[in-house]
Amino acid sequence: MREWTFSVQKSARVCNIFCGEGAREEPLARAVAPYRKRFVFTDANVHRLYGNWIRAAFPETTVVAMPAGEEYKTPETLLSLLRAMAQAELHRGDCLIAVGGGVAGDIGGLAAALYMRGIACIQVPTTLLAQVDSSVGGKTAVDLGGVKNLVGAFWQPNTVIADPVFLSTLPPREIRCGLGEIVKHGALHAPLFSRLEEGEARLSEIGFLASLVEDNIAFKLSVVREDPEENGIRKSLNLGHTTAHALELSLKTLSHGECVLLGIVLEGELAQERLDCDKEYLRRLRTICAAALGGFPALPPLREALRLARLDKKNIGEEVTVTAPIGMGRYAVFSLPWEEYARGIERAGRKIC
Ligand code: NAD
Ligand code: GLY
Repeated sequence: MREWTFSVQKSARVCNIFCGEGAREEPLARAVAPYRKRFVFTDANVHRLYGNWIRAAFPETTVVAMPAGEEYKTPETLLSLLRAMAQAELHRGDCLIAVGGGVAGDIGGLAAALYMRGIACIQVPTTLLAQVDSSVGGKTAVDLGGVKNLVGAFWQPNTVIADPVFLSTLPPREIRCGLGEIVKHGALHAPLFSRLEEGEARLSEIGFLASLVEDNIAFKLSVVREDPEENGIRKSLNLGHTTAHALELSLKTLSHGECVLLGIVLEGELAQERLDCDKEYLRRLRTICAAALGGFPALPPLREALRLARLDKKNIGEEVTVTAPIGMGRYAVFSLPWEEYARGIERAGRKIC
């Protein structure tokens, strides 16, 4: 079992992270023990698969399950959760436990941040993506008006419980989804990149990917510790995400992780047109992304999809801001007019897919 602790900036709180087999047993029991009342938030799929475990782990606890899926990551779902928390008479000294993927984790985290101006939150991530990325670092949000994560807050969880037991029920598509964020971390951290290149033939094996969870958490935490509220180096974790978010919300057929893999490659191409990049490294990165995707998918015309990039929260003024890979562990944040951005990504799309 690996364990990390970090102090939450501007508060006396600490965040404890447990990763490994058995994390959902004794470490979770210890984490919930101080709270008078607990409240579990999950989604319908996770409830179907793990409802018995939830009931046994949290007896006499209100359990609310939202419908599964990004399309329910909305202010409406958030509000109905907040109403249920009020109905359960949760108080400042109580805690919300989010059991699920990044969607339930992001909404649950935001509800914990807002309710009575902030109550304790325990994240129990059940997807690969949520274990390697979304449960760590305190970003919480819902989508609004077709824009990803437009309404949110930084709210660090008190505890994160990443137990590989949950990963055994994930369908292949959700495994690929987690791989998007794992490759993103690899693009930013040379030791992880080497592990991905060495394991290229095993990128669809859950056992291999589960063995990477610990390294991913350690890497992400090193970034979050340095820059918890994304004023500097944490921007690197948005690698490929401007384009990924636009594709995800408009193409619908591709998952978040698949869009991240495409976004990394397309923004890497855009960077090559305007910056001094390590072309050989970007070729190797493209190879890993293609292996993770099982080949690049045929893309429809992208112009309409890319319009959503205009509203990305990272933008400065009228320009679109991207965070692109440029070399091993190196990235560049740059802004450009939307028309130029869209033409560059369309060119890259025609070249790659
Ligand atoms: P998700 O939460 O929708 O889960 C994917 C699917 O897997 C859902 O149908 C869910 O019901 C199901 N599922 C969950 N656990 C399962 C299990 N153990 N076995 C079988 N099925 C299971 O999606 P996700 O990929 O986990 O997360 C994507 C979301 O995370 C996006 O909204 C994205 O914006 C967000 N995200 C947030 C951060 C952050 O820092 N907060 C980082 C990356 C992504
Ligand atoms: N997933 C990007 C971040 O946490 O900053």
